[in-house]
Amino acid sequence: MTVQHLPGTDRSETEALRGRIAEALERARRRTIGLTECLDEAELVAQHSRLMSPLVWDLAHIGNQEELWLVRDVGGREPVRQDIDQLYDAFKHARADRPALPLLDPAQARDYVGTVRDKVWDVLDRSPLHGRDLVRDGFAFGMIAQHEQQHDETMLATHQLRVGEAVLAAPPTPARGVAVTGEVVVPAGEFTMGADSDPWALDNERPAHPVHVDGFAIDAAPITNEQYLAFVDDGGYERPELWSERGWAHRMEAGLTAPQFWDQDGGGRWWRRVFGVMQPLRAQQPVVHVCWFEAEAYARWAGKRLPTEAEWEKAARFDPESGRSRRFPWGDGDPTEALANLGQHHLEPADVGAYPAGASPAGVHQLIGDVWEWTSSGFEAYPGFRAFPYREYSEVFFGGDYRVLRGGSFGADQVACRGTFRNWDHPIRRQIFAGFRLARDLRSDER
Ligand SMILES: [Fe+2]
Repeated sequence: MTVQHLPGTDRSETEALRGRIAEALERARRRTIGLTECLDEAELVAQHSRLMSPLVWDLAHIGNQEELWLVRDVGGREPVRQDIDQLYDAFKHARADRPALPLLDPAQARDYVGTVRDKVWDVLDRSPLHGRDLVRDGFAFGMIAQHEQQHDETMLATHQLRVGEAVLAAPPTPARGVAVTGEVVVPAGEFTMGADSDPWALDNERPAHPVHVDGFAIDAAPITNEQYLAFVDDGGYERPELWSERGWAHRMEAGLTAPQFWDQDGGGRWWRRVFGVMQPLRAQQPVVHVCWFEAEAYARWAGKRLPTEAEWEKAARFDPESGRSRRFPWGDGDPTEALANLGQHHLEPADVGAYPAGASPAGVHQLIGDVWEWTSSGFEAYPGFRAFPYREYSEVFFGGDYRVLRGGSFGADQVACRGTFRNWDHPIRRQIFAGFRLARDLRSDER
């Protein structure tokens, strides 16, 4: 009997997709386990900051979302633990209230996520991965892998807030490969913003649509610690005229005097606490743990402004040669360790100039990875937006008090990071791995 192998048939493509899904789910789970097995029970149930959930809540919430979407909806299976749904519904309980809930303990939570995952492997084996929107191209599986990785990044932020001996380790970031300074001019014109062909893009990234962007200049690299320190040393935190009214009110109320986790010793030398380890401030590292109001004040001090979301995406995706928008600054290929600092391979941003191969054709560096970048834009629906698979994913946040962040951080996995990916948060938030770069309008002689 002859077995026919026809390359490119639906069947082989479906099997390849099944493999990619399994790999994405396993990578997320390895990371979740790594972030939780290094702490004892007391640390897993503790609340390390009122801004964050206990890690054991994130763990069981990851399993609960996986159960809801993949076991019950896609798989049509009986519930594993319907009784705990409401405990792990992020809309029912604010983070500050979660420690008081009758949560699963760490051993129960581990059992639960393991049981759910075993069922998911069976669902994945049997799913046709085509048909209705939720399963076409494995969307629901991709959404759940992204969800777990996004919680892993949140759990990593909890680790950074935690006080105590260091428990995480990773190799150092690559050294600077090239010197990157100055700005890149992006001429006026239309480009395609948003996702069309990426099957795992989320509802808020869709649909792709044309946007005209006036000419602008954007920094070739994120703002570094050295640049930010010049703002601090110039009295940036003492000069209300540099801040918006809301920003200054927040600076006063929260007592901000420097980025979070910075500390100055008696000799005037600056240090930064990185997952429990004090390090001398590294001059060429992108500044991280600043809120939007701090970025706004720095921009006014520097005589520039934050880029709009459309400007950021055009700088990251528009290829002037072909006129089309690409998936990433370097092209359409997936991120690799040589292209971007993603996926918690390192525990901090890499120095500016460390990823020359990941630059855009025009020479804008480190748009993807290292730090999330604040933009000036609020979080709004694109024209033609359709909520999918549920309104609470994005739609309920549109028009709220949020600013969009782009590009992903060293703690964002590649499954949850691409040129179209949109993150959003309140302008006062700084426990997230956020920095920024600046932009400006073109002068008449530059147009
Ligand atoms: Fe969640």
